[in-house]
Amino acid sequence: MIEARPELDKLSDYVPGKSIEEIRTRYGLSKVVKLASNENPLGASPKAMEAYMKIASSVHLYPRGDAPHLVEALASKYRVKHNQVIIGNGSDEVIDMVGKAFIRPGDTCLSLEPTFSVYRSVTYSYSGHFASVNALDQKEPLKELAKIIDDKTRIIFICNPNNPTGAYFSEDEIVQFMVQVPRHILVFVDEAYSEFATAADYPSLIKMIDLFPNLLLNRTFSKIYGLAGLRVGYAISSAEVISNLWKVKPPFDVNLAAQEAALAALQDTSHIKKTLEVTAQGIEYLTKALSTMGYRVLPTQANFICVHIGADAKKMVSFLEEKGMIIRALSSFGMPEWVRITIGKHEENQFLLECVNLWRNNGRD
Ligand SMILES: Cc1ncc(COP(=O)(O)O)c(C=O)c1O
Repeated sequence: MIEARPELDKLSDYVPGKSIEEIRTRYGLSKVVKLASNENPLGASPKAMEAYMKIASSVHLYPRGDAPHLVEALASKYRVKHNQVIIGNGSDEVIDMVGKAFIRPGDTCLSLEPTFSVYRSVTYSYSGHFASVNALDQKEPLKELAKIIDDKTRIIFICNPNNPTGAYFSEDEIVQFMVQVPRHILVFVDEAYSEFATAADYPSLIKMIDLFPNLLLNRTFSKIYGLAGLRVGYAISSAEVISNLWKVKPPFDVNLAAQEAALAALQDTSHIKKTLEVTAQGIEYLTKALSTMGYRVLPTQANFICVHIGADAKKMVSFLEEKGMIIRALSSFGMPEWVRITIGKHEENQFLLECVNLWRNNGRD
């Protein structure tokens, strides 16, 4: 038997949202709606799909590993230098590259929990220790997080807006936190859902990078841009941080079609506008309806809502799946009484409410 590295004992498989195909086959259903992985309910931008089809005749060629067009487009959109941007095969890979480049065995990475599980798993993969503060117990979680920084701290992961709660930190809160963090510690702010945030004090951190060269912003094309299946993420940071990430980046990780589609998606402002409208309407509609039913719905700055169901949350998720509605149970996030629901198109949100009503009327016993 080939023995794996002992670090793997701390790791388990990532638990994704269930797929439509899986539920369709399991229950023999014709209609299945997935509101479980925070994908864009409107799909990819038509311009991105066109670019994807157009590149088909070139797929025998390797992509440019340095993705100059996409990197340049991102740099120009965010008014940073091209050497302050790197792309990855989804932002998951950006997180992995950060681990590979910066975590030394025995280093500690910090975060707030509940949050996206990949910060913890990447830390363990690179032989680091992981410590966290439970944000749900704290009035000022970042202040508590600052208190556990020590000599071993290497990276601090902050998800803003947070997956799975939808909560956010304001610009003031982040800046006050950054001031307390020594410059040799990387602060990784995961902004996978930032484009959905509407709060007036939601931070605009790109302008802070010159001031804080240890700040890294992680973004993705999987959410608002609707390209989750193509896998493109990116990071913006100081040239120094980014240059170290290029050294560990797999050479051709972001494929040709993904690069072209992402470039087109970036320019399709009308698709983004429509997505934001559908999201805002869906948040209002679902929050009102579920609150009226007596459920507690957390305020959100993302494209999902986090809802308190109670002890039978997992049972409810299974019941909904049998009816063709996939949502996310949050037990793997350490929130066993909660579910996370991605905002869908209006008819999908209506179907969700129909399924929840069925559960309330027939499913609970
Ligand atoms: C907070 C957060 N960061 C990163 C990711 C990874 O996204 P991707 O690898 O598709 O870019 C996700 C996916 O759900 C997420 O919720």
